[in-house]
Amino acid sequence: MKKFIECIEEVMKEAFAASGYDDKLAKVTLSNRPDLCEYQCNGAMAGAKLYKKAPIMIAKDVVEKLQGNSVFESVEAVNPGFINIKVSKEFLASYLNDMLADENLSVEKSNAPKTIVIDYGGPNVAKPLHVGHLRSAIIGESIKRMGRFLGHKVIGDVHLGDWGLQMGLIITELSKRKPELVYFDKDYQGEYPEEAPFTVSELEEIYPTASGKSKEDENYKNEALEATLELQQGRRGYRALWKHIMDVSVADLKKNYEKLNVEFDLWKGEADADAYIPDMVKYLKDNGYAYLDQGALVVDVKEESDTKEIPPCMILKSDGASLYNTTDLATIVQRMEDYHPDEIIYVVDKRQELHFIQVFRCARKAKMVEEDTELSFVGFGTMNGKDGKPFKTREGGVMRLERLIDEINEEMYKKIVENRSVRDENAEKTAQMVGLSAIKYGDLSNQASKDYVFDVDRFTSFEGNTGPYILYTIVRIKSILSRYTEEGKNPEEGTVRQAVSASEKALMLELSRFNSVIGPAFEEKAPHKICSYIYELANAFNSFYHETKILGEEDEVKKTSWIRLLVLAKEVLETCIGLLGFEAPERM
Ligand code: ARG
Repeated sequence: MKKFIECIEEVMKEAFAASGYDDKLAKVTLSNRPDLCEYQCNGAMAGAKLYKKAPIMIAKDVVEKLQGNSVFESVEAVNPGFINIKVSKEFLASYLNDMLADENLSVEKSNAPKTIVIDYGGPNVAKPLHVGHLRSAIIGESIKRMGRFLGHKVIGDVHLGDWGLQMGLIITELSKRKPELVYFDKDYQGEYPEEAPFTVSELEEIYPTASGKSKEDENYKNEALEATLELQQGRRGYRALWKHIMDVSVADLKKNYEKLNVEFDLWKGEADADAYIPDMVKYLKDNGYAYLDQGALVVDVKEESDTKEIPPCMILKSDGASLYNTTDLATIVQRMEDYHPDEIIYVVDKRQELHFIQVFRCARKAKMVEEDTELSFVGFGTMNGKDGKPFKTREGGVMRLERLIDEINEEMYKKIVENRSVRDENAEKTAQMVGLSAIKYGDLSNQASKDYVFDVDRFTSFEGNTGPYILYTIVRIKSILSRYTEEGKNPEEGTVRQAVSASEKALMLELSRFNSVIGPAFEEKAPHKICSYIYELANAFNSFYHETKILGEEDEVKKTSWIRLLVLAKEVLETCIGLLGFEAPERM
């Protein structure tokens, strides 16, 4: 469906043209003086210079052409030359009826659907998930869902960190603890056991222990580096151990992501890129992109316009080991081969920006992607505690994701039980749903690139700009609709009529904006735009609700119209929270 604002702009353009002015001036925007009007056009101001005429004269000419037009309730020229618009209630109601009838609630699917790979989550195998990985998962999942809603083919890849030093560290520590394991026997030729020689909790203890030791003991660290290199070079026993580490931790990761409503299409990782490295290195050398610098293989990526120094992209260390750059570049090769994407989006901590600048430039310079393949970096800020420092446990340790989720859910559970409107058996499930909304909305309502304070009290509140407030609003609508159904009536029938109150019209105006929010939110990879929209929509609904006795209304035509409005509000809100990655319960 055409956007509501475009419908207005179209009429405005005609009026500009009919008065002899350039119709490019006829830009319509949401009003920044909602007390005076709903939309406005400032084109006459811009036209003053062009036509050497007072802007108010131009505005008056245009307005004159618009009198009696069915799109407007009123359209006025005001000093010094603004055009103030109120839209017609009839036109607004008919737009909302069209929305109700539209299968995608007025949002048009892209007419040039793209194939997009989105790289998000990025957990490191064998290290517990911590809050740093939470943001990537939450933001990435939302961008993925928005893209799909707009008709793009979006492939989500978790891109595990499964090839680095942490693997060498675990192998080294295991070799100290259980040197008798067959994995360490270089001469062993047989099959390796199917069962892992450790459990997930052991694994989670082994890694920090090993990492601690390597910081204190140079020899230990060198052993771990050597083990990493041997693993990467294909030592059989180490590969077999690696496989065990993978199986055990991936099973655990999947469980955690499921709790977050985050779902990946691909569970590939850095290790999968390994097979592409030799050919890639050869290609970079043969074509003169890469050269040896003090034994290391590098590609220059600086550009003339750089204001700060961008160091060369290192492809291989002098000992031949691959690096983070190497796996990311080889992964690009693999993704181009497998999916030929139009765009690859990386949702990663913004502190890694330089890395991605180097990788993107190298990929482009060496023609590893097509000229029109977009490489996008969505860098997010840090999640801080109330003290303004990176979020920690109360005891000051690294906050594990599981623990954070449990704490929020407990908090929600307490609030919900206090509320007592839900029978106990549902309270736990409801608490999980509301808890997830608190975490996700709390994160997504901030512009991704900014640091933000994770404030449990504020995020779990039922009032204010929070996930629980949005859910509360949806649940309120659902409860009215189910009581209406209990009256023996069907909320799916009937038409939206002209607004009879200011709060009703305000709600209708908010609803009509839906399709103009989603497209830009996706283009700009900005889920926070959806959050601000639904916050305003929820506020508009609640003002209307507090002023209107919906079910008590005796005029059936009015009542039906309101119910239809509620149905639309519910659908729009539920669609939006779906795009943000959470759901509303039936009751709260
Ligand atoms: N595993 C990395 C980390 O924890 C994030 C991976 C991001 N994705 C990528 N393609 N580099 O920092």
